Amino acid sequence: MNVLLGASLVAAQGSFHEWHPAGPNDVRAPCPMLNTLANHKFLPHDGKSISQEIVTHALGSALNISAELSEFLFSQAITTSPEPNATTFSLHDLGRHNILEHDASLSRADYYFGQDPYTFNKTVFAETRSYWHGPIIDLEMAAASRLARVRTSNATNPTYTLSPLGSGFSVGETAAYILILGDRVRGTVRKDLVEYLFENERLPVKMGWKTPKTVVASDDLFGLMDRIVNVTGLASSDARALLSRSDLHVGRAA
Ligand code: HEM
Ligand code: MG
Repeated sequence: MNVLLGASLVAAQGSFHEWHPAGPNDVRAPCPMLNTLANHKFLPHDGKSISQEIVTHALGSALNISAELSEFLFSQAITTSPEPNATTFSLHDLGRHNILEHDASLSRADYYFGQDPYTFNKTVFAETRSYWHGPIIDLEMAAASRLARVRTSNATNPTYTLSPLGSGFSVGETAAYILILGDRVRGTVRKDLVEYLFENERLPVKMGWKTPKTVVASDDLFGLMDRIVNVTGLASSDARALLSRSDLHVGRAA
């Protein structure tokens, strides 16, 4: 079989039912979803040497993310590699502060507080989830929780920074959990699925979650980001700056 020939494709096989947390030689990201995909072996379980081909295959087969959105995300991820002209990145690279990793995360402490960005932080996540009233998270709750984290970081971290790129990622991450785990038309998602993903870094398959039936493309992501930004006008300027940067738009020259 063709898939058995390339080591990279073998690494990207994955299983919805098998799950193994990181071992001592494995690296992980500040991203709960990429960690989840590594735990399910859609991404290499060691979290290393991740090529565009691996990302596209993993995000496509596990989450029904389009190739063009995967390519865009890969083009961002590769900027975190310390190697010049790198063609792969590691999940650990993604945690380098103020490249993609940013302050005011939903489930990680800010760099300033001396905790690594790879580890889930219960206290930080408690603040985030305190805005999720009831069993369904809607756009207002999702946007409010993100904004609360921005305000708290701003008030408590003397080195607080959120660049336009960081802000765009921050809004994009809120959009992403709704898109992949929830209902992109309504802009809602089951709270138990979101909490399970963050807390366990495991796909909530046993809770009834399934891969989205409809392909998830960059238009879906940017459209939902826009709606999140519109709910909280306050946070919008940075995210808008990101959205208007032509070099960050999918399908245009970098
Ligand atoms: C966080 C990268 C795919 C959901 C992050 C962060 C990075 C990142 C660097 C850390 C930002 C920070 O909080 O400081 C990537 C890359 C991806 C990818 C390179 C694809 C190649 C996804 C997907 C989802 C997702 C498909 C779908 C649910 C999230 C969420 C966070 C996050 C919810 C926020 C975590 C938090 O604030 O604590 N991602 N990600 N990511 N990512 Fe991803
Ligand atoms: Mg962060």
